[in-house]
Amino acid sequence: MKIKKAVFPVAGLGTRFLPATKASPKEMLPLVDKPMIQYVVEEAIDAGIEEIIMITGRGKNAIEDHFDISFELEHALKGKNQNKLLEEVREISNLVDFCYIRQKEPLGLGHAILRAKDLIGDEPFAVLLGDDIIYSDVPVIKQLIKIYDKYNTSVIAVEKVDKREISNYGVIEHKKIDDRVYQILDLVEKPPPSEAPSDLAIIGRYILTPQIFSALENTETDKSGEIQLTYGLRHLLERQVIHAYQFEGRRYDAGNKLGFLKATVEFALRRPDLGSEFREYLKSLEL
Ligand code: UTP
Repeated sequence: MKIKKAVFPVAGLGTRFLPATKASPKEMLPLVDKPMIQYVVEEAIDAGIEEIIMITGRGKNAIEDHFDISFELEHALKGKNQNKLLEEVREISNLVDFCYIRQKEPLGLGHAILRAKDLIGDEPFAVLLGDDIIYSDVPVIKQLIKIYDKYNTSVIAVEKVDKREISNYGVIEHKKIDDRVYQILDLVEKPPPSEAPSDLAIIGRYILTPQIFSALENTETDKSGEIQLTYGLRHLLERQVIHAYQFEGRRYDAGNKLGFLKATVEFALRRPDLGSEFREYLKSLEL
């Protein structure tokens, strides 16, 4: 079955970016001149996604506005004959069909995904997290769709992560079945390094079968009252095979400050209009 819909959970509080995220969504922080969320939306569109379901929360209206028509802005740009900018601004609102659902309280990623149950229905779908920005030749979600098409199971993106950082991630126990492809045997949420079953960490790109919804409905909340996607996936694993795919691409954990800075610098260096001047500037700094 073709993957047509993607869920974007964007209802998190973004506490690691306070105070910037007090009144503005972290997803709207720009890498150079484009909000992070737009990079991820473009990744989904490049992979053939036709409908995006955003799970939003309080204080996230700017995301909805960003992907909507801005009548006043378009009018002003037209008046000033700034046609290139006008085209760019207009294009954003024509990218794809968007739906918005509110997650009334941030009760975890699993809880956020469960909000999309009625809109997804009985078909497999993609999930993309706006914190993980990935630079790659082939959009990572497209790489996962290819694996889905072969095995017809849920597929999770994974990446090798340094042992010292592994406790920030969900980690898989696995059996390798092909180049970059693993069958998942178990998943552990944020293990201490000594208990991590491997160095393959779960990254924010997933293809999920619709059975994830009943699995999440049967998932207990954790100590902090949240429904974790990793625990839901464990329930799903009792009923279905799940694969992991070690994607090709360079990922930035833009949900934390250092990752965001690295992404900003590297995206700026790749820009034809800024790259060489910016590189000269960086070289000139007495570091
Ligand atoms: P994170 O926990 O990494 O992000 O959630 P956060 O909560 O936004 O940021 P910090 O940790 O407080 O700095 C991973 C993804 O899941 C979404 C977030 O928006 C983010 O994209 N999420 C998380 C929800 O949509 N709802 C939730 O209840 C929790």
